[in-house]
Amino acid sequence: MAKDSMAVSSLLWTLFLISIIFSLQSKSQEEDIPITRFQQYLRINTAHPNPNYTAPVSFLINQAQSIGLTSKTFEFVSGKPVLLLTWLGSNPNLPSILFNSHLDSVPAESEKWIHPPFSAHRTTDGHIYARGAQDDKCIGVQYLEAIRNLKSRGFSPLRTVHISYVPEEEIGGFDGMMRFAASSEFRDLNLGFAMDEGQANPGDEFRVFYADRTPWEFIIKAEGIPGHGAKLYDNSAMENLMKSVELIAKFRETQFDFVKAGKAANSEVISVNPVYLKAGTPSTTVRFVMNMQPSEAEAGYDVRLPPMADPDVMKKRIAEEWAPSIRNMTYTVKEKGKLRDHLGRPIMTPTNDTNPWWSIFKQAVEATGGKLAKPEILASTTDSRYIRSLGIPVLGFSPMTNTPILLHDHNEFLKDIVFMKGIEVYESVITALSSFKGVSDQVL
Ligand SMILES: *[C@@H]1O[C@H](CO)[C@@H](O)[C@H](O)[C@H]1NC(C)=O
Ligand SMILES: *[C@@H]1O[C@H](CO)[C@@H](O)[C@H](O)[C@H]1NC(C)=O
Ligand SMILES: *[C@@H]1O[C@H](CO)[C@@H](O)[C@H](O)[C@H]1NC(C)=O
Ligand SMILES: [Zn+2]
Repeated sequence: MAKDSMAVSSLLWTLFLISIIFSLQSKSQEEDIPITRFQQYLRINTAHPNPNYTAPVSFLINQAQSIGLTSKTFEFVSGKPVLLLTWLGSNPNLPSILFNSHLDSVPAESEKWIHPPFSAHRTTDGHIYARGAQDDKCIGVQYLEAIRNLKSRGFSPLRTVHISYVPEEEIGGFDGMMRFAASSEFRDLNLGFAMDEGQANPGDEFRVFYADRTPWEFIIKAEGIPGHGAKLYDNSAMENLMKSVELIAKFRETQFDFVKAGKAANSEVISVNPVYLKAGTPSTTVRFVMNMQPSEAEAGYDVRLPPMADPDVMKKRIAEEWAPSIRNMTYTVKEKGKLRDHLGRPIMTPTNDTNPWWSIFKQAVEATGGKLAKPEILASTTDSRYIRSLGIPVLGFSPMTNTPILLHDHNEFLKDIVFMKGIEVYESVITALSSFKGVSDQVL
């Protein structure tokens, strides 16, 4: 009797254990499905040069269909499609929200990776290795997974939500977001707010970016009377160029001192870095003629201006101090972007209560237990600048905490749990932003 009941209870116990193991397994398999889709997207090679956008676009259209989003493809430049997915809001007259990511990636040197860059190999401790894992295929998939989850819970947005996938970001966006942002199709979206890529943080706060710096290519050139290498005389081309080089170096030092003293971040000052020097009289036998002072000398600089910098002050400084015609100097400045929007305002998105979208975004991130780091200016550039220069607020955000910054690096990876947490963060962010009724609702 006692023996029988023990047998029964041990049988029940075994069944109980089996059912627990089974449910745990199916739970982890369920969690694996978004990760599998992320891996599938990562395995599509869209690295430069000449990325082929056919496969990623058809993959994303399939994903969109499976969750009931409509899709449109625009080809402003042949072979370089912009994909737009749409989740219609219950009040499509309200300004809509856009979530952007780019389809392309920088190249990868396979032989320098511990796992092949387009294998999306997942290690036992959850690291997913792939070119694009951080920059920025993670967000491209997270947007979709978040919407999939919101739909399965029966959520419906008040405002229309768009997701865009653009080509060519890594080479400047000229055939991608630049064209799209200038199009009537873009204007018709009637955007109120947009989100674009950000960067990882090794710490445990989410980074968020409210502006990009604007690059200028700056070249100065000096001319002067050539002379014998042994002769001492004033106003040679070399002497005139060196005067400018010294002045520019001094300016660079004052800017860098702010950073060194902890008064500003790298991205908050004007950087002026020399990138080339060109002078001398070439010779066929030795590299340069050594007993000759040349008649021309040139230097090139990479200049980056934060949004609050005054472009007119900078131009005046160049014309009057760095390359004055009185010193027989000429210069060219190639502005690779704008510093002011169509209303003359600095191209930056306010991150205080004057911008209701900021407050909603911040609360939505905090509602998931996350914490935002102090908003930053990005030292380089992204496609956000094309949208911000239309006067539309944009935040750069890729939810990656406790993650080394590996964009464009060998062995780029993202951990599975970080990827999954990002989906949860976007669920909260999409819900909050798309439910925003309007400015009158704003709680300050
Ligand atoms: C791009 O890839 C697709 C398949 O995904 C292929 O059919 C097409 O020929 C490719 N295009 C070019 C220009 O290589
Ligand atoms: C500029 O060039 C002219 C003509 O070559 C020369 O006479 C003058 O001294 C130069 N001035 C300076 C400051 O280099
Ligand atoms: C909010 O931010 C904007 C832009 O950064 C700034 O000009 C403005 O003074 C700030 N307003 C308040 C109330 O802090
Ligand atoms: Zn990117």
